[in-house]
Amino acid sequence: MTTLNALHQLDLDHHIHPFTNLAGHQSRGPLLIDHGDGPFVVDAQDNRYFECVSGLWSAGLGFSEHRLADVAYAQMKRLPYYHSFTHKAHSPGIELAAKLVELTPETLNHVFYTNSGSEAVDTAVKMVWYVNNALGRRGKKTFLARRLGYHGSTVASGSLTGLARVHDDFDLPAIPVRHLTTPNYGKEARPNETEVEFTTRLGQEMQELISHEGAGTIAAFIGEPVMGAGGVLPPPVGYWTMVQRICKEHDILLVLDEVITGFGRMGRMFGLEYYGITPDILVLSKQLTSSYQSLGAVIVSDELHDVLVRQSAQHGSFGHGFTNTGHPVATAVALETLRIIETEDLVANAEARGAQLRAGLTLLEDHAAVLSSRGAGFLGAVELVPDGPAGAAGLKAFEIAHKHGLILRAVGDALVFCPPLISSEAQIDQMLAALRLVLDDCA
Ligand SMILES: Cc1ncc(COP(=O)(O)O)c(C=O)c1O
Repeated sequence: MTTLNALHQLDLDHHIHPFTNLAGHQSRGPLLIDHGDGPFVVDAQDNRYFECVSGLWSAGLGFSEHRLADVAYAQMKRLPYYHSFTHKAHSPGIELAAKLVELTPETLNHVFYTNSGSEAVDTAVKMVWYVNNALGRRGKKTFLARRLGYHGSTVASGSLTGLARVHDDFDLPAIPVRHLTTPNYGKEARPNETEVEFTTRLGQEMQELISHEGAGTIAAFIGEPVMGAGGVLPPPVGYWTMVQRICKEHDILLVLDEVITGFGRMGRMFGLEYYGITPDILVLSKQLTSSYQSLGAVIVSDELHDVLVRQSAQHGSFGHGFTNTGHPVATAVALETLRIIETEDLVANAEARGAQLRAGLTLLEDHAAVLSSRGAGFLGAVELVPDGPAGAAGLKAFEIAHKHGLILRAVGDALVFCPPLISSEAQIDQMLAALRLVLDDCA
């Protein structure tokens, strides 16, 4: 077996890490995670950490759910791979599509599978263009997105993402997109502006942009119900009602990116229930398999599906897809994930644990290192008092957290929380107590 030191060196020599300071990695090296245990992960030196962000907002069933492993093994033995091009199908892929349709609003009835959230967003973009071209609306191509929104890092999804580090020197955006003001009342509101006034101003900005560019050029609006990677930013009151009204007025499709908020995270099965949103296209991934397999899904309305069907007949094929679209092992694992979420009532657990988390973060507002807290559903954040340049306080807390048995995520000077859906009341209490120790060390 390769020794720890050798693995460390091989990582430095040969492994390019995503979203990592590649220069800093050479001096710092990897944190080698060895195995999982419920909401905890254990590193190669046997240090145990509570995963405050479920890995990448995704492993809601934690890191040792053997029922998912068993289903994957059984499916691998029966049919380890088959594709779904040219009319082929298999039962897990079909059954999962039916299950997703059962769980989502009644207008969303048709599922296309991808391997990731980014691919799902790219698929949604291409579907919107395909549909608009089919309807003779060839000028309607531009997407409306938001600054600090995150939709992935491929060429199209990365263009929609509103983060400079995803664009700079990658020659993005590469598709027509306009980024609107972040719906973050805490940071973007003007002095004395109420939340309702802030929402109204965001609506005016959207209307003005549409008039300026021409509604005949704007294809779709894409957004996360609550911005996740941008720093856990719940929208101001009335925001989604306003967005939907303006989209309807100008025949702009609504693409809802529930890659983080889907499957219980909001204390509802989907964020769309929480905010009363009816999208034309719903994008899902991450929690769909608790990240035990790579899978994304795009669910489209009957209306859009009718157009896809007609247009593919014109071309002789719907010319889009991937080798692993609807992989049998991934879709079997997804079915089991959804079964566990339902039978163990993890949506209700997320609602209760979310209330506990947010109350705990509110209590931390009295700490000298904390400016404020926020959250929605089982998502939360604390904004730290700046300590030097922007992001330095967050980075410091992120590092110190390891010694208190927490894996945290810092977004600038905010610490964000998205614990596994399976977390118990005692585990969230322990996490909050450890977080206070982290903040003590920071202050
Ligand atoms: C809201 C949202 N959409 C899309 C993505 C992209 O998913 P992936 O990393 O699987 O490509 C992410 C990833 O964090 C996300 O948070």
